[in-house]
Amino acid sequence: MYRLRVLDAAQFRALVTMDDVIPGVKEAYSLYSSGRAGLFPIITHEFDPGRTDMDIKSAYLDGAGIYGLKILGWNRDNPSLLGVPALAGLIVVMDIERQQPVGILEGTPVTFLRTGAAGAIGAQTLARPESENAVVVGSGAQGRAQMMGLSKVMPNLKRVGLFDESVSSAEKMAAEVTPQYPWIKITAYPLSALEDRVRDADIVVTCTPSKKGFIKRGWLRKGSHINAIGADMPGKQEIDPDMTASVKVFGDSRSQVALKGECQHAVSAGLIRPDDITEIGEVLNGTKPGRMSPDEITMFDATGMALQDLIAAKIALERAEAQNIGTVVEMEQ
Ligand SMILES: NC(=O)c1ccc[n+]([C@@H]2O[C@H](COP(=O)([O-])OP(=O)(O)OC[C@H]3O[C@@H](n4cnc5c(N)ncnc54)[C@H](O)[C@@H]3O)[C@@H](O)[C@H]2O)c1
Repeated sequence: MYRLRVLDAAQFRALVTMDDVIPGVKEAYSLYSSGRAGLFPIITHEFDPGRTDMDIKSAYLDGAGIYGLKILGWNRDNPSLLGVPALAGLIVVMDIERQQPVGILEGTPVTFLRTGAAGAIGAQTLARPESENAVVVGSGAQGRAQMMGLSKVMPNLKRVGLFDESVSSAEKMAAEVTPQYPWIKITAYPLSALEDRVRDADIVVTCTPSKKGFIKRGWLRKGSHINAIGADMPGKQEIDPDMTASVKVFGDSRSQVALKGECQHAVSAGLIRPDDITEIGEVLNGTKPGRMSPDEITMFDATGMALQDLIAAKIALERAEAQNIGTVVEMEQ
């Protein structure tokens, strides 16, 4: 007999905050780059291409004693036909030593926090600490998560410009998040103002599903930092490859960003080699340098790893056990 805990989205949100997940994801990056955590091959399948698909991302963290997976399904028509989100999924956590399931969690709130934490760690590790002025392109779920992450680690942040291909989405997000960050002036702009705002920004975050680069070489000013979050599969692109080739590039996983992150385009064009990409875990572990000068332009290419989900899920499950939250299922085997 063993006990399995099931946490729904509301329970996860009540147990874990961005402040908890940032150190957890840092630990996952460190373990990964020191060989004490790893990724299994990703499984994807399109049932009806462009309408229904799924992926399974899995990983192990020897250093934290767990392994597991995140399974995500997507149905383009779910919002209009069923009134539910297009994307939904589950995280399953297993114990390495006991080889038994530990928990099952709803995937969406975990993805929100662990990806916001990735952006936060990218900025905290690589951006100039005095950064005041940020641009966020993409005013969807990740726009909100990235804003939350930045607000936690960049204490001098004073202004954020929000962009979206739908300016009304950017305006809606600005109105929604302004009360959460009263010390930051948050302004929605039309895309026509993007170049001007990027030229003035200390930090630029891209978090859209775009398949065409919209941040061009020469736009970023000296000493700025860019978090490239949106490109997480082959074909997605937010940054001009010439720009990627002209800055110092960091990634969550060297092999993954070279294949499916923003770097895929500069790598396939022969402008950079995978070896030119430093893993953020290497910087956190002190085995490779991060930013070398206040004038350098840095980029963090985050493709997302199941390690991040698993470590966030582990924190939630430990707290849930201590506070007796969630549904416990007794399993026979
Ligand atoms: N790296 C990671 O770990 C990670 C994690 C989660 C999501 N993502 C990726 O981030 C992207 C955004 O995810 P989300 O959940 O916020 O999606 P979302 O649908 O909630 O929001 C995306 C927003 O981007 C806007 N947009 C689309 N194309 C644009 C363009 N060319 N220029 C400006 N705005 C544009 C849309 O109008 C929308 O408001 C997706 O590609 C997703 O796969 C990456």
